[in-house]
Amino acid sequence: MPAKNLSLSGITKLPWDEFYSLSLNAKADFFYKDSLMFDCLYSSQFNRKLLEYLYKLSDKIRFIAQTKSGLDWLQKLLSHKRAVLYFSQPSTRTYLSFNNACQVLGIQASDIRSSGASSEAKGESQEDTVETIHSYTDLLIIRHSNENIAEKAAWMFNRSDNPIPVINAGSGPLEHPTQALLDVYTLHRAFKGRIDGKTIAMIGDLKRGRTIRSLTHMLSNYKNIKFIYISPSELTLPDDLRQYLVKHKIKFEESNNLERSLKKADILYITRIQDEYDKKNESKKIDYSKFGLKKEHLKHLKKNSIILHPLPRRGELSSEIDHDSRAWYWKQEINGLWIRAALIAFIFKQSKSILNYKS
Ligand code: NCD
Repeated sequence: MPAKNLSLSGITKLPWDEFYSLSLNAKADFFYKDSLMFDCLYSSQFNRKLLEYLYKLSDKIRFIAQTKSGLDWLQKLLSHKRAVLYFSQPSTRTYLSFNNACQVLGIQASDIRSSGASSEAKGESQEDTVETIHSYTDLLIIRHSNENIAEKAAWMFNRSDNPIPVINAGSGPLEHPTQALLDVYTLHRAFKGRIDGKTIAMIGDLKRGRTIRSLTHMLSNYKNIKFIYISPSELTLPDDLRQYLVKHKIKFEESNNLERSLKKADILYITRIQDEYDKKNESKKIDYSKFGLKKEHLKHLKKNSIILHPLPRRGELSSEIDHDSRAWYWKQEINGLWIRAALIAFIFKQSKSILNYKS
C-alpha cells in the first residue's frame, strides 16, 4: 500500500502559521498515520497505487451491497462510528453521496447544512465550531467557503488527544479532492482501466472551479495525459495550476475555441460558471454561451469519447445530450457514493475485510 514516511506526529510541533506556509506537497505529507492516509484534504495525496486500490475496493463494496445479506454485513463494519457532515455551502450530490456512503458502512451521520444553522451565525469562530464538532464525532466531512478551514480542522484535531479524520468535501474555490476521485473512478470504468494517453478538454470557469484544480492534480498520476483548457478569456487557468503543469512537464494547451477541440478530446469535462465567487457581479459581463455542449456538437466528437460534468449544470450542458451513449455524468454521480464509501472504509482500515468478503 502507498506509504509515507512522515506522519501526523510531526504536526504537533508546527504552529498553524508555519504549517500553513509550507508547500502543498510538504503539507500533504503530514496527514498519514501508520503510513496510510488519515485525513483527505488535497487531491495531491493520491498516487496511482492508492487510486487503483480504491477503485477495486469501491467495485467490491457496490457488489456486496447488492444483496440484503451483503448490505447487512457492510452495515456492521463501522456501526460503532459517528460522522458529522458540516456543509456551509450548498450541495445535493456530494452531501447525499457522503451521507449514503456512511449509511452503507453503518456509520451514524448527523449534519449541519449551512453556517447559518450553526453557531457561526451567532458569531462563533469557525475554529470553535469545528472544535465543537470534534467533541461529538469520529469523522468530519466538511464543505466550506473558507478554503483553509478543512486543513485547519485537521491540523487542530491531529494536535489533540483524540485525532479524528477530516475529509474535504470542497474547500472554497481551491480543492475538491473526492470529486476528482469520483471523476477518475468514472474514467477508470468508462475506459476499462485505460486512462493513460488520453486527451481531456476541461471547459468553463477554470479560474474558480475547484474541480478543475483537483482533477488536474489527480490525472497527473497517469502517463501521457494531455489537457486542453477551454474558457472565456476572463476565466483562464489560475497561475499556480499553469506553473504546476509546466513544472511536471504535463502537456497542455489553452484555448477559447470549444468547437476546434471537440475532435481531439477523449474526455470532455464541462463545468458551470462559479458566480458565487463574484466580487462585483462580474460574471454577468462574461459571454459563457460558447462554452457549453449542445446536441449539434455531438457529431464532431470521437465515437468513444466520454462527457463528464461534476454537476449541477445550467445551460452549459444541454439535457438533449443525456441519452447519448457518451454522456457519463449521471453514472459519474452515482460512482461518487461507492468511491466515497471506499475512501471512508480505507481510512477506517476496513479495506482488507471487504476485499476478503465471500458471499
Ligand atoms: C461541484 C462543486 O461543488 O465544486 N459540485 C459538486 O460537488 N458535485 C461543481 C459545481 O458546483 O459547479
